[in-house]
Amino acid sequence: MFPQVRMRRLRSGKIRDMVRETELSANDLIYPMFVDETIDSTVEVSSMPGVQRLPLDKVVDDAKDAADLGIPALILFGIPEHKDETGTSSYGEEDIVQQAVRAIKEDLGKDMVVMTDVCMCEYTSHGHCGIVNFETEEVLNDPTLDILGKIAVSHAKAGADIVAPSGMMDGMISAMRTALDEENFKNIPIMSYAAKYSSAFYGPFRDAADSGFQFGDRSAYQMDPANSDEAIREVELDILEGADMVMVKPALPYLDIIYRIKHEFKMPTAAYNVSGEYSMLKAAAEKGWLDENKVMYESLMSIKRAGADMILTYFAKDLARMLK
Ligand code: PBG
Repeated sequence: MFPQVRMRRLRSGKIRDMVRETELSANDLIYPMFVDETIDSTVEVSSMPGVQRLPLDKVVDDAKDAADLGIPALILFGIPEHKDETGTSSYGEEDIVQQAVRAIKEDLGKDMVVMTDVCMCEYTSHGHCGIVNFETEEVLNDPTLDILGKIAVSHAKAGADIVAPSGMMDGMISAMRTALDEENFKNIPIMSYAAKYSSAFYGPFRDAADSGFQFGDRSAYQMDPANSDEAIREVELDILEGADMVMVKPALPYLDIIYRIKHEFKMPTAAYNVSGEYSMLKAAAEKGWLDENKVMYESLMSIKRAGADMILTYFAKDLARMLK
């Protein structure tokens, strides 16, 4: 008790560094990239300052920059030229993500872990994450699973190191695991967006990826932000279906979920610091209301402290640069 105990004794100089419990490193980061088949030159995403959509021929340089900064992994999102009701340009050998994966792997090989987002929303004309019954405006779970399997296999064939399904379909992990194993991709890990909430923080991403929906919302398949026990069930099921890594998304408004998942399952756990979390800090910094580097660091640190082993973040390059 005070005065014998004084917490501030360990709070200054080198001693402060010695007792630090959490350390951020470039190695914790996964860099999200948008490759766009409809453009010839780089386009800034207006709602996400500093984030760009890249044409195919700019992708390798950007991936190299990330590698030079010590970032070990990236995740690719594709914006296709052609969209239709069943997302047919998501699994072709010459489709945009498949081409981008090949280009990056050809150049960077083992120096960059290439992950791919496996979902239909960027490829469907209605913008939903699966096959839709238009009469009932329902996203149909089971018919979507076959397509997710096909997408995963096409990404693996192109050279993807990890596939990451984000569509919150029931049974998606086992469908993809089966499809991958049948094609002899037994050693390709699946990172499941296991606990993905129906969140308004995805707003700016939908501009970036052109994946806004034409009717309804995603609340019939993404989780209710009010629920926490349900996240445990979601993650447990995905692990039983063969997920190698699990993700919580978004990150900052769901730190309690990250904490629970890490402690409950002890699995490699990722957190997605989503577009809205990024944009709100950027906007406040642009106005001069917050110190951008400091709030970036503190936010990402809190995600790691909560239990995340890996952070998907649009700040990846900024943070890596700052750590250098
Ligand atoms: C769906 C997907 C979404 C994000 C990543 N994958 C959006 C959604 O569910 O609408 C959001 C990421 C972000 O906001 O940064 N394929």
